[in-house]
Amino acid sequence: MIRLDKYLADAGIGTRSQVKQYLKKGMVTVNGEVEQQPKQKVTPGADLILFQGKEVSYSEYEYYMLNKPAGCVSATKDLEYKTVLDYIDSLRDDLFPVGRLDRDTEGLLLITNDGALSHRLLSPAYHVPKTYYIKVSGCVPKEAIEGCRLGLDIGDDAPTKPAFLEILSAGEVSELLLTITEGRYHQVKRMCHVLGYPVEYLKRVSFGPLTLDASLALGQYRPLTPEEITQLKDEESICCIIKKQ
Ligand code: URA
Repeated sequence: MIRLDKYLADAGIGTRSQVKQYLKKGMVTVNGEVEQQPKQKVTPGADLILFQGKEVSYSEYEYYMLNKPAGCVSATKDLEYKTVLDYIDSLRDDLFPVGRLDRDTEGLLLITNDGALSHRLLSPAYHVPKTYYIKVSGCVPKEAIEGCRLGLDIGDDAPTKPAFLEILSAGEVSELLLTITEGRYHQVKRMCHVLGYPVEYLKRVSFGPLTLDASLALGQYRPLTPEEITQLKDEESICCIIKKQ
């Protein structure tokens, strides 16, 4: 059971304080009776809640794919910079990014309020693969592929776990795809630095079973489809991806 004001705010009716005003004005009914108490407990899915005569449906969890632009931080609040949540047009106050991308990194970031799923996706036990598109200056040699596969000493206690490097093009500038299954601090930048090719541009293109939707411009987002949510929650689908590589 949850408070009625949270139910209404989470459903996008208004902020908590707007919702309190609506309740005071008698604009909300619960199972046919006007309800004015914000703290009244209701059961999502069982109680019928109407706002101005229209049913208010509620989903406990929300899942969004954001194409993060550079310049914003992967946090819920920041005094200096825009946060990734500033791009999400939701009145919910419990959304957060799953993991972090650096301020200057672009690409796929999952935003949700599902703490258990987030915990699982970030847990080292699951080795969720993440693929990055990278531009570096200089011509990356094929030997770098083996280096990434064997693990690199990037200055931590242990070398990096096997990572999968694909060289898309090599010349004055090289374009790479790198898949890692860990989430160490600045991991991709540190790996490329150790290889001798500092990162010029970094974009995450996949996260576990999710692939960045090419129709999303930088700063745009969309809700995950039911199939994407099912895949994210399915251990098998994550394991399969690791096996495929
Ligand atoms: N690795 C990095 O170095 N930066 C990111 O933003 C993500 C992975």
